[in-house]
Formats: sequence, structure tokens, C-alpha cells
Amino acid sequence: MAPDRFKHYVLGDEIIDLQHKIIFDLSIEILEKIKLLEDVSDLVKDILIFIKHHFEYEADDMKNNNYTFIDHHLRQHALILDTSSYLQNLSVKDGSNFAEILEVLVNHVDFDDRNYVEWKLKRIKID
Ligand SMILES: [Fe+2]
Ligand SMILES: [Fe+2]
Repeated sequence: MAPDRFKHYVLGDEIIDLQHKIIFDLSIEILEKIKLLEDVSDLVKDILIFIKHHFEYEADDMKNNNYTFIDHHLRQHALILDTSSYLQNLSVKDGSNFAEILEVLVNHVDFDDRNYVEWKLKRIKID
């Protein structure tokens, strides 16, 4: 992702932002390969493993901070993982599926993750 475009998705939590950047960079690489009709199966496997790891990190962080809306947030993660099970069989022809799933993920970062990080930062200030 172009650095200026990524700026919008910097939420203010160093580790979460770094993990999002890794996911976005991998996504861009996949989208570029799809355009060139190159095989993306290995990269898709990598990104799915990393997304799962990232979701686990967020879940642990939310538990440690007693996040009020954790149940809703974890349901969103489960939904995204369900949707991305499509990705496991992604071939070059299915490139549009990947773009759709990426959009769901980007919206999650922009809305649900942003809500969490804002909540966490406010809480840290109060404590
Ligand atoms: Fe996230
Ligand atoms: Fe999340």
C-alpha cells in the first residue's frame, strides 16, 4: 500500500499498526500478482496465517484490557475468517474474491479496530 494511503489506517497502537501494515503490504503484492495472472496460492496461505495470528494478538490484547465490546469484535473476526476460507482455493481467476475480502478486512480495520484502539487510548489516559 502506498505510504500516504496507509496513513489513514494508522490507529495509534504500535503493534496493531505494524501488523496491519504487514497485511496490507502482502495484499498489495497479491493484487499485483493477480493482475499479472501469476500464481498467488503461497502468498494467500501466508496472509491467512498472518491474519489468524493478528486476530489472536488483538483478542489477547482486548482480554488484557477488559474491552467492553470484545464479543462483537471477535464475532467480526470469526466472520472474516469464514469468508476468507474462500481464499484457500483461490486461483488467478478468482482474483475478484480476494479484492472483496480485502475490502471487508480494510473496513474492519477502519471501523472496529479503530474503535478499539481509540477506546484503549482513552482508557490509558484515564488510568
Ligand atoms: Fe486488526
Ligand atoms: Fe480486529
